[in-house]
Amino acid sequence: MSITKRFYGNTADGTAVDIFTLKNSKGITAEITNFGGVIVSLMVPDKNGKVEDIVLGFDKLADYEKKGPYLGAAIGRYANRIGGAAFELNGIQYKVDNNEGENHLHGGFKGFDKVVWQAEVVNNNGTEALELTYRSKEGEGGYPGNLDVKITYSITEDNELRIDYHAVSDKDTVVNLTNHSYFNLSGHNSGDILGHKVMLNADKFTPTDKASIPTGELADVKGTPMDFTIMKPVEQDIHADFQQIQNTKGFDHNWVLNTNGNLKEKAAEVVDENSGRVMEVYTTKPGVQLYTGNFLEESPVVGKGGYVYRNHSGLCLETQYFPDSPNKNNFPSAVLKAGDEYKHTTIYKFSVID
Ligand code: BGC
Repeated sequence: MSITKRFYGNTADGTAVDIFTLKNSKGITAEITNFGGVIVSLMVPDKNGKVEDIVLGFDKLADYEKKGPYLGAAIGRYANRIGGAAFELNGIQYKVDNNEGENHLHGGFKGFDKVVWQAEVVNNNGTEALELTYRSKEGEGGYPGNLDVKITYSITEDNELRIDYHAVSDKDTVVNLTNHSYFNLSGHNSGDILGHKVMLNADKFTPTDKASIPTGELADVKGTPMDFTIMKPVEQDIHADFQQIQNTKGFDHNWVLNTNGNLKEKAAEVVDENSGRVMEVYTTKPGVQLYTGNFLEESPVVGKGGYVYRNHSGLCLETQYFPDSPNKNNFPSAVLKAGDEYKHTTIYKFSVID
């Protein structure tokens, strides 16, 4: 794999930002910027060897700086929601940014998607990787502890986009890092993902209230439109007469993975019969948010090449701790103890149908 670097632009406050091109020898190329850790483009061959960009994104850095739908970005300190924008840890009540009504979403008003990261190209056992680091100061977004975060991106010769997450805090805190790429396996400018087929290796999901805060229940998917254990097209049940789906105008939920953190077991798969592209997801995280881009039209999103993204133009598979874990004792804990290491890996593996 090779990595090259070029200047991307200056942020509004004049900080220079770069863009890194990661390439393997099989035709996969990713462009990643150290602004927000954003995956700006991901070029992947289809069944005929035609290479196309399969992630939604913007042309200009300035568009990533604006409030938006988190296209391609690194998300933290806590991905997804924290109910009431507050949680208790070690008997202390912490108030975090209430940037979505009364609740906290994706790290607050200025999450990890809106900051400039330090970038370095490193050698990981003979493979080059892009390492982004950022110090999230105590109190940023409302969180306790200074948190040193490292996200490492690489593209392997097995056609995997691999993202390794690492963090250490000097005080007990909560951490939940993910990537918010919107995939459209036919190409970012090809229409919607309703015909994509999805498999989620999950027998349960976490139902939510109207504000998308989990109720705490782990519900069986069996016999409901939330069942993706057998691959099915997104469109089959996206408008099903099922309160959970109607609340969120499509899929926007956390599934409880059966994989128990095992990176070798498939967590999710997406198949696009049009292009023949297949994406498998592997992760050490306990959950995955399938978000089918239900709110992309809330504000017009003019994407790369001037293409306007509509609702369902892309889908996200955000590997994560369950939403609102800091307030749910029965969910896997997202607490990171002072001095301990937070370590997670997610792999998106590409192939074509034969
Ligand atoms: C959430 C959606 C939200 C989106 C923001 C997703 O992770 O689950 O509810 O609208 O991020 O673009």
